[in-house]
Amino acid sequence: MKEGYLIAPSILSADFSRLGAQIKEAEQAGADWIHIDVMDGHFVPNLTMGPFIVKACENITSLPLDVHLMVEKPESLLPDFAQAGADVLTVHIETCPHIHRTLQSIRELGCQAGITLNPGTPAGSIEEVLPFVDLVLIMTVNPGYSGQTFIPEMVPKITWVRNVLDEVNPEAKIEVDGGLNVQTTPEAVEAGAEIFVAGSAVFGHPEGIPAGIASIRDALPH
Ligand code: DX5
Ligand code: ZN
Repeated sequence: MKEGYLIAPSILSADFSRLGAQIKEAEQAGADWIHIDVMDGHFVPNLTMGPFIVKACENITSLPLDVHLMVEKPESLLPDFAQAGADVLTVHIETCPHIHRTLQSIRELGCQAGITLNPGTPAGSIEEVLPFVDLVLIMTVNPGYSGQTFIPEMVPKITWVRNVLDEVNPEAKIEVDGGLNVQTTPEAVEAGAEIFVAGSAVFGHPEGIPAGIASIRDALPH
């Protein structure tokens, strides 16, 4: 995994009538990953995209594709997303009763394995599988929509997970997702996050995508 702080713009906030151009613009402006939010209308209320959008992204960017699966029963979909070009596959603990096996399957498909949890789910619920992940995604909003407000009470969760990872899996990174902007990014950095998903702060920036990426980059230590 690339070292240092990474910015992963979430295309959920992009203009889908110009998706390819917007991804290219993000890539040229220094995005590190492209974050793709997959929602099934069951686990979360919203319904978004499937493997064919991942494939379309794969065709137009060389950036790693970071696929966040907000779906029930993600196991059955993993091969399709891997085949479509996903580099990171992140599943929710709330949807995976056999999480150890699911993480193994992701790695067997050649992808990096990510685990995530809703704001209301205790960090302890993922403790036993922390040795088996490449990243932990801490949700700082309730999954489902872009443009929500960062929940500051999640910051101690980032710290707790980082401390446990330092013991059992120091290579693994922490990613944060939801309400990240110039104000909230420094708190997440301080707590130990290294990968920053940003939807509205990038694609909804009033001065455009490059200004949005620059605003997050400026909020990171450098
Ligand atoms: C929320 C998604 C996020 C979302 C982030 O369910 O997982 O990736 O797109 O959008 P912002 O940065 O606007 O909160
Ligand atoms: Zn996401």
